[in-house]
Amino acid sequence: MTTSTNSSSPRKPLIAGNWKMNMDHVQGTDLLQHLAEALSEAKHDPERVEVAVFPPFTTLSTVQALIQDDGLNLSSGGQDVSPFDSGAYTGDTSAQFLAKLGCKYVLVGHSERRTIHNETDDILNAKVKAAYRHSIVPVLCVGEGLEIRQTGAHVGHTLTQLRAGVEGLTKEHASRLVIAYEPVWAIGTGEVAGPQDAQDMCTAIRAELGELFDADVAATARLLYGGSVKANNASAILNEPDVDGVLVGGASLEAAEFAKIAGCEQPRTPVPAS
Ligand code: PGA
Repeated sequence: MTTSTNSSSPRKPLIAGNWKMNMDHVQGTDLLQHLAEALSEAKHDPERVEVAVFPPFTTLSTVQALIQDDGLNLSSGGQDVSPFDSGAYTGDTSAQFLAKLGCKYVLVGHSERRTIHNETDDILNAKVKAAYRHSIVPVLCVGEGLEIRQTGAHVGHTLTQLRAGVEGLTKEHASRLVIAYEPVWAIGTGEVAGPQDAQDMCTAIRAELGELFDADVAATARLLYGGSVKANNASAILNEPDVDGVLVGGASLEAAEFAKIAGCEQPRTPVPAS
């Protein structure tokens, strides 16, 4: 099965900025305006590369309104979602609220949610399904910690998270998935998995999607790498055939840097048919 990206690939690269708990709505407005300017100066082509931002909830509606009012070619998403649609769940945010705002995506299972908020694979699977109930595309984050990497069990660990996260999805939903491979040891540390590490894991994830669903799902789901991505290391990672984009934390808080990362995505070279 040939599933790698080629020039006729249906997979549009996605450059995603996870603002985490940074940027109040005033700062977020400023960042978004600067980002729009930087992307325009860099002649960003939204037909070829999609750029999405994930602001904190209190900033999200302001950012989304700006995107709509100014007709910006940017997507937006929440950083988390409730597994439930409505009711007595204080502090949670429903996927239907995100949909009403016009969000396209939501992050599910970021390692900071898994560790700080003890989110289990079962809860994350329920969140993935809640997102799809309201036509929001989940960006399911998976990846191993340093101890697991050191034992060499990182592929098995990551695929276990993947299987649990996508359990029970239809093929149609699975084909629209975005999976972000984020080795925890590379998040916010300055340590970056090498391009080959990112490619190897994305190949394993794509093959697993093929086993769990079918070859079409494997060929259309988008796989991102995340962990200390900067403008100076993004090109090599994005050049890997199974890496369809990046999930960027710290560097997404600087408009010029993030726009440069979006500009690192180059047209892909066709992969010879096998
Ligand atoms: P980082 O964060 O780019 O700051 O390492 C990535 C993430 O947590 O999504």
